[in-house]
Amino acid sequence: MCGIVGYIGYREAYPIIIKGLQRLEYRGYDSAGIALFDGSGINLSKTKGKVEDLKTKAESTISTEGSLGIGHTRWATHGVPNDVNSHPHYSNSGNLVIIHNGIIENYGAIKEELMNRGYTFSSDTDTEVLVNLIEEVMKKEGVRLGKAVQLALNQVVGAYAIAVFDKEKPNEIVVAKLGSPLAIGVGKDEFFIASDASPFIEFTNNAVYLEDEEMAVVRLGKEIKLRKIKDDAIAYPLVQELQLNLEEIEKGGYDHFMLKEIYEQPRAIKDTYRGRLRSSQGIVKMAGVDDHLQEFLDAERIIIVACGTSWHAGLVAEYIFEDLARIPVEVEYASEFRYRNPVITDRDVVIAISQSGETADTLAAIKLAKAHGALVFGVCNVVGSSIARETDAGAYTHAGPEIGVASTKAFTTQITVLTLLALKLAKERKAISEEVFTSYLMELEEIPSKVEEALESNPMVEIIAEAYKESANCLYLGRGYNFPVALEGALKLKEISYIHAEGYPAAEMKPGPIALIDDQMPVVVIATKKGHYEKVVSNIQDIKSRHGKIIAIVTEGDVQVRQLADHVIEVPETFESLTPLLTTIPLQLLSYHIAVMRGCNVDQPRNLAKSVTVE
Ligand code: G6P
Repeated sequence: MCGIVGYIGYREAYPIIIKGLQRLEYRGYDSAGIALFDGSGINLSKTKGKVEDLKTKAESTISTEGSLGIGHTRWATHGVPNDVNSHPHYSNSGNLVIIHNGIIENYGAIKEELMNRGYTFSSDTDTEVLVNLIEEVMKKEGVRLGKAVQLALNQVVGAYAIAVFDKEKPNEIVVAKLGSPLAIGVGKDEFFIASDASPFIEFTNNAVYLEDEEMAVVRLGKEIKLRKIKDDAIAYPLVQELQLNLEEIEKGGYDHFMLKEIYEQPRAIKDTYRGRLRSSQGIVKMAGVDDHLQEFLDAERIIIVACGTSWHAGLVAEYIFEDLARIPVEVEYASEFRYRNPVITDRDVVIAISQSGETADTLAAIKLAKAHGALVFGVCNVVGSSIARETDAGAYTHAGPEIGVASTKAFTTQITVLTLLALKLAKERKAISEEVFTSYLMELEEIPSKVEEALESNPMVEIIAEAYKESANCLYLGRGYNFPVALEGALKLKEISYIHAEGYPAAEMKPGPIALIDDQMPVVVIATKKGHYEKVVSNIQDIKSRHGKIIAIVTEGDVQVRQLADHVIEVPETFESLTPLLTTIPLQLLSYHIAVMRGCNVDQPRNLAKSVTVE
């Protein structure tokens, strides 16, 4: 999704904005641009392509001086990715310049009206319409930029995070938010604006996160003043002290963020259960659940809403909740749930899972569930994100910033939190014995070192990747707890290597995918001991007799599958319900290596956005 960065203060804005845009690259984008005020006028440069392309263009065509500026990475929604449609956009007078993340839904009608008044447009974007609407309001009402932004946004339907400045008043940037994230970094005599804190964390730990329908005039020498866009009420900014550090958002010696994040999983899982899993006391402590324990205990049903990888974590959770806590669970794509008039009551608990905490469909699903009286519990990674704020209660995954677009540590930490929740509810509902509960806590504590062991498969995975990197298709099969892992493995491969891949419950191979199997088809089969091992072995035999190439993920010491499979990757033994935390690891590595070998941009795959903040 689009990334926005802004700076006003005493330093050179250009390097701060460029570096900030690079930090936001993970959000996914197709073009980039920058506008700087050099003391007398605006210098603007934008281009289709990467931030590196923008740097080359800007440095050879414009003056990059000035201590006020805004920059943008665009993920095209209205208008194809090209130089003209890239942000920033000027208003017709050339006085105003804007960057925007989101969609203005009624831009067509506004554009027509503005054209009738003589405005012209060079791009196909909704954003250029917005900046001219702001200009028109300034002229018509004789108001300053801040007021004009407010009045204009009251005419707009859609979602936005915007930053705009007026070259006639170069001591302020006006920002506003609805639906898309916007943070203000507060330094001494300087302010930073960004989609998240990563562009400014090296300069300040103090940040203000705008709420929906809030705007602020960020003026040098003044305190930030927030206003409600609708009724002009003054809101008081909450300055948060961020814990994030720079090292966490840099690559730390790895070639890619994705690889770094894969290797961070033992630590991330431990951080996620730290303080919650108290095996010596025989309890799981989760403040967000304790505050609403009765609602959880009375729940007739749990509905999980999420998108993408988070939805896969939800599927794993369905197995765990039903298996351990004996609560019926439904797992829904948030995008379907929000529009299909679902039956929700105040006896339902809705769990929303989201790494970014900004996914528009998940956010809308939460609002719908709340309107029907359900308790909504969030599982998010990004602290202070929209979903974290919108939910009634929740538990953070403490994975740390996930920069690679393909989600890895977010998935395993989500499963960790959801397992803790399932165990807690299972114990409270007396669905499992104390002994079983305690044995789970103890086994969970072993998981980080077992993930370390699973990571040792890396050299073997690299050999396998070399053998299949040219494949056109790939099938992933798993049963029970490992069916969602098969889906996730296939998603990872598609996302970053652009190889067509499908995940299936192993038994569902017979009604269809089996027709695709020939000696060109690699089939990744998760065949760990326990659960449905014998059944999966029989599925493997079916594949073998059709000459498919079998890559099997097995439990350490396995003999049976080894005799059938072309390649075998071992993971340590654990409880059946915890196997997804281990079997996922080689699948992440496999997609990573194949993508690298195919020369793909692993951390920023084409067309994908890290967080989808628009529909
Ligand atoms: C996008 C990303 C996926 C991610 C999904 C949900 O589609 O490309 O990798 O799984 O959004 O994101 P969330 O932040 O809500 O977990």
